[in-house]
Amino acid sequence: MSDFISGFWSPYIAIVTVVSMLACALLLWRLSTRRLAKGEKVDTTGHVWDEDLTEYNNPLPNWWRWMFYITIVFSLGYLAAYPGLGSFAGLWNWSSAGQYEKERTAAQQRFGPLFDKYLAQDVQAVAADPQARQMGERLFLTYCAQCHGSDAGGSKGFPNLSDADWLYGGEPEAIKTTITAGRNGVMPPMGPSLGAEGTKELANYVLSLSGGKHDSALAEKGKEKFAMCAACHGADGKGNQQLGAPNLTDQTWLYGSDEATIIETITNGRNNMMPAHGELLGEGKVHMLAAYVYGLSKK
Ligand code: HEC
Ligand code: HEC
Repeated sequence: MSDFISGFWSPYIAIVTVVSMLACALLLWRLSTRRLAKGEKVDTTGHVWDEDLTEYNNPLPNWWRWMFYITIVFSLGYLAAYPGLGSFAGLWNWSSAGQYEKERTAAQQRFGPLFDKYLAQDVQAVAADPQARQMGERLFLTYCAQCHGSDAGGSKGFPNLSDADWLYGGEPEAIKTTITAGRNGVMPPMGPSLGAEGTKELANYVLSLSGGKHDSALAEKGKEKFAMCAACHGADGKGNQQLGAPNLTDQTWLYGSDEATIIETITNGRNNMMPAHGELLGEGKVHMLAAYVYGLSKK
């Protein structure tokens, strides 16, 4: 707790906290020590409910009063030991970040040797090991499933990792590079230079490449314009894994195979991001995940 915007607030909060606690103790002491003199009758508080229910103004019973005192003493002890009073770190120097680091280090020590064992094997061997596959699956569910789906089947914009079709390559090294450094697939917007008609022609040509339903007159015209796409997708439309440009001649679609979606891609372009995980996960887990993904695609 050291992210106050000015040095003023830390002592201010600390003083208000301590003074309020002492005031509570004082109030408790004042209200509970007055005893009745002989013959004196207990007053009521003056509160009346339901016409005739009144409340006596008796001091708290002792056991109850002492519970309050104990609570106050406990709070003072707690605030001395743990952070809570302004930016005072507490005598035990505990912090949630520190505890997280400690648990992380402990986990590293416990599981590190296990990951090291697999790191020494190549990806194919790890993929064939049932225990490693189980570990890989758990890692995948924790770190990857939110985007790629728990079965790695993907969805619109998120590639299917369980098939044999790859944007960036399915060899162990390519998969490891993808996970470690991330990927950024950029398809530039072509709408402005093509115009609506040219876009429609190209979309029909793209559909014809994979044998989809298309208008062959439009596709014929689109074919002449495909030169501007060939730089990335290849002259034959089979894609380029260096750039992550998808193969347009197969039945696998990142965004969809209908004409409207293809027109949308060509017009506005796409900018798709696989975040880098190397720093977050470390080499051991990346190796494990690469083997898991590799294994899925080889089923
Ligand atoms: C925030 C969402 C997100 C998360 C989390 C994520 N990915 Fe991805 N991943 C993507 C996107 C989007 C792409 C496609 C990038 C592109 O089109 O250029 C991708 C691409 C990939 C590819 C390349 C697929 C191919 O066809 O070449 C692999 C492999 C991959 N991810 C594995 C993983 C693994 C393993 C994890 C967990 C550590 C993971 N991803 C976590 C969004 C994510
Ligand atoms: C600068 C390289 C580049 C050029 C030029 C380019 N593309 Fe792309 N295209 C890509 C990349 C990269 C992707 C994948 C985007 C992603 O990962 O989200 C893509 C995706 C696509 C898709 C989506 C495929 C799917 O599976 O859903 C279509 C369709 C497409 N491009 C058609 C074209 C056409 C038609 C042209 C020419 C007008 C063209 N592209 C020009 C790089 C390019």
